[in-house]
Amino acid sequence: MAAKFSSDSPSFAPRLNLIGGEWRKASTGKTFDDINPVRSAGFQPAGSLGLTGPAGSQRSIGRFPLSTEADVDAAVRAASEAFKTWRKVPAPQRGAILRRCADALAAEKEELARLMAREMGKTLIEARGDVQEAIDCANLYAGFSRTFGGQTLPSELPDKFAMSVRKPLGVCGQITPWNFPIAIPSWKAFPALLCGNTVILKPAEDSPACASAFGRVLMSAGVPAGVFNVVHGEGEVAGAALVNHPGVAAISFTGSSETGKIIAENCGRQLKRCSLELGGKNAQIVMDDADLNLALEGAVWGAFATAGQRCTATSRLILHEKIYDRFLRRFIDAAKALRLGDPLDAKTQIGPLVNAAQLERVENYIRIGIEEGATLRLGGRRARGRGLNAGHFFEPTIFTDVTPSMRIAREEIFGPVCAVMSFKRVDEAVSILNGTRYGLSSSIYTRDVNAAFRAMRELEAGITYINGPTIGAEVHLPFGGVKETGNGHREAGAAVLDFYSEWQSVYVDYSGKLQRAQIDT
Ligand code: UN1
Repeated sequence: MAAKFSSDSPSFAPRLNLIGGEWRKASTGKTFDDINPVRSAGFQPAGSLGLTGPAGSQRSIGRFPLSTEADVDAAVRAASEAFKTWRKVPAPQRGAILRRCADALAAEKEELARLMAREMGKTLIEARGDVQEAIDCANLYAGFSRTFGGQTLPSELPDKFAMSVRKPLGVCGQITPWNFPIAIPSWKAFPALLCGNTVILKPAEDSPACASAFGRVLMSAGVPAGVFNVVHGEGEVAGAALVNHPGVAAISFTGSSETGKIIAENCGRQLKRCSLELGGKNAQIVMDDADLNLALEGAVWGAFATAGQRCTATSRLILHEKIYDRFLRRFIDAAKALRLGDPLDAKTQIGPLVNAAQLERVENYIRIGIEEGATLRLGGRRARGRGLNAGHFFEPTIFTDVTPSMRIAREEIFGPVCAVMSFKRVDEAVSILNGTRYGLSSSIYTRDVNAAFRAMRELEAGITYINGPTIGAEVHLPFGGVKETGNGHREAGAAVLDFYSEWQSVYVDYSGKLQRAQIDT
């Protein structure tokens, strides 16, 4: 089926909240501007709206509702009402709706990808991958809908039946980042919906249009009114209202560790279930026996795809000293050759950073790295040139002479910046990789199967790749990390179903008499 809408039109991504199946303004009528990162810098807000640049990149994607507590409350009321019926819809029927969501997303994949590229700046090829991840996710949970459930277990007493069943939690609040603006909402929404919950999504301020478009597609696929809601606005206001609303049973958040800790504290006070996917400082180890061509491709893709704005990005490269010089030279050359530009241009390999604050954050880390004594070998500045001056473009950046204690080796930068280190023995490489407060993704390139298996055991990370880059997780495996990357939960795969359901143990005694467990056995 061909796409019915164009991503340029407001009806493709209604610039409104989705509450109870209706598109509504914020109760105050206030809005915020959704800025295109390719055309934002150097433009004055007044009078520049509607200015079209290369490949149809307008400065503003549109204005979206700046929601308050009252809007969140309206969404909670709608979602609570919808929960009364949705929880009773048989799981295979909920799964059938998810299957239609997958089909509807597939039908609009290209338009959604174009909207995403314009809105948050990832390249078209990666934006298509983002939408594909959501399609895979909807299909995955549609598939689970006929098999997910509990256990039947023997009772210790005669004529007694024992089983465990899954029950939904209620209204789930989901707070999502801009870097995977359709994939991450899908990781959170589809398993929650399969389990019989209703959802309120509070998307990042930098990607409201993708969230609205996602909501519209779900509605078109037959998700009933109130089952999936979107409330736009700021984290400190709309996000906080969702976290603290007594009618919200659980919060799932992806974002920074700093914000995650605040959310966890607030949820803790209410004993509210809370799943956190937070920062990463992922590393790729290259052993001296590795296929260096493969390791090079992996390092470039891992470090600079999405301009380094992935939780899973390769922000550290740990090279065996025997191949250090050779590999580094090729890594620098390959990074230098990457083509920056408009994400809608098929030739572009790296798009802009998402906003001015992110650009400043990355620049600040460049200063920190230099002050700490690291050597800037490539990049380190805003990219200039044809088509780049008006956007938040930053050059691929490589630091060498980095020690594990430097801030650029420990803190998440979320930009196209890679810190390169060297090692002599594999245990040293492992301890460098493990030496941060995060533990999301990890990678080792080697042809030595023993070294690979030892690394698998020793690496402190939720995800490990052998001979693959740190990015590229698939939706049917658990996603998440250890240490300050999260709070012990996992998204995706079968693992997330435990987050979105409550266990109920049911005992059926058909003996017709009182049987006392632990006593009459
Ligand atoms: C993220 O950056 O938060 O593994 C998610 C990957 C993607 C998901 C990244 N499939 O890089």
